[in-house]
Amino acid sequence: MAAQVSSRLGFAAAAGMVPGWIPMARTKREVVWATHETRFSRRREGVEESGVGGAGRLFPHGRCLETSCPFDCKDGCGCKMGKLLLAPMEGLVDDVLRDVLTRVGGYDLAVSEFLRVAGNLLPARAFRRVCPELARGSRTLAGTPVAVQLLGSDPACLAENAAQLVALSPAGIDLNFGCPAPTVNRHGGGATLLADPEQLYRIAAAVRRAIPAAIPFTAKMRLGVSDTARTLDCARALEAGGIVSLVVHARTREEGYRPPAHWEWVARIGEVVRRPVTANGEVWTTEDHARCCAMSSSPDVMIGRGAVADPFLAERIRKLARGEAVAVDRSRDWCRLLPLLASYWQQVRAKVSARQAPGRLKLWLAALRRNFVEADALFVAVRPLRGVEEVDRVLALHGVPVTPAAV
Ligand SMILES: Cc1cc2nc3c(=O)[nH]c(=O)nc-3n(C[C@H](O)[C@H](O)[C@H](O)COP(=O)(O)O)c2cc1C
Repeated sequence: MAAQVSSRLGFAAAAGMVPGWIPMARTKREVVWATHETRFSRRREGVEESGVGGAGRLFPHGRCLETSCPFDCKDGCGCKMGKLLLAPMEGLVDDVLRDVLTRVGGYDLAVSEFLRVAGNLLPARAFRRVCPELARGSRTLAGTPVAVQLLGSDPACLAENAAQLVALSPAGIDLNFGCPAPTVNRHGGGATLLADPEQLYRIAAAVRRAIPAAIPFTAKMRLGVSDTARTLDCARALEAGGIVSLVVHARTREEGYRPPAHWEWVARIGEVVRRPVTANGEVWTTEDHARCCAMSSSPDVMIGRGAVADPFLAERIRKLARGEAVAVDRSRDWCRLLPLLASYWQQVRAKVSARQAPGRLKLWLAALRRNFVEADALFVAVRPLRGVEEVDRVLALHGVPVTPAAV
């Protein structure tokens, strides 16, 4: 158990985001968010956002979008733009943030944070802990399907746990081959497996046998451990192992979360596998989304930190795809965000201890500062606070409609 907890913190720390912990000084996490400072200031100066393509655009690979979707997507697969997936983010996006983000809308599918499988058969409650949505047909309250992600290195053990998970009817089962956390990698899991495509094949094939065809079986990989020498072999191995679609976080493990993401590698993978390939990495704006689609030749994009930093990003991408305008001034979106912040805070208070709750809120506010000046002011006001009542008070002062009595 202790190992599992420390691996979780390790993974978040690797991305500069240790959950629930924000010291007074500038945190590592803030530094991560700040790397894109230039881009936000351009936005704040009023540089217009634009999307390429729009309704009816065609992608170079000419894949039929109607047949490429293994999931029962809410937005339907007949739409002209590709799918938008909400990325798994251990320590940052849990069922509460998935609820809020999918309520805004625009996501076809979410993937749960990883559940580490190491040598034992996990009880049903372990799957329900990472994916409480399993109790509601594996969907968020807004109806977005949530696939459950497993992480491990032992084919038989992963297969046994996948079979256990099947009994809970997940919207999909995803395998993690991208986690860069040293604790996870030391035990042979996550991105380190990308050095061994044969083992990837053995894992995928074993898990495939445990999952009925009706449940989409997918994988998420990085480009490699330290280089791209085996990238295509890894993708081919996963395809041969029986996955129905693949998400590619277009960076090596060694590159961590440093920009850029090499979207062109997603296109190269798309040329060698016959399964749909979804591009992931560094999509923070509608412009990034458009460039990512163009460079990856993939209509389907998974968004992680950009979704947390801008809860309206998927909605904006879809608006542009329909040929509608999106506002450069985000003040109206901030007003729409206030009740969502209240709901988030209320759910976090109900879910985690009073000691942990403020840290969770600070984590999201820190991310929102990228797009909302108002979030910056709120973050600064909340940052020194430790008690939930004080946080309630400050949120109310900033226009967040908190209802302390209802918590
Ligand atoms: C805090 C944090 C936690 C993450 N947890 C997971 C995880 O549980 N499973 C996984 O496959 N990827 C995980 N990732 C990687 C993201 O899913 C995504 O691949 C990565 O952040 C790149 O996408 P982005 O640039 O849109 O954020 C995590 C990333 C971060 C920053």
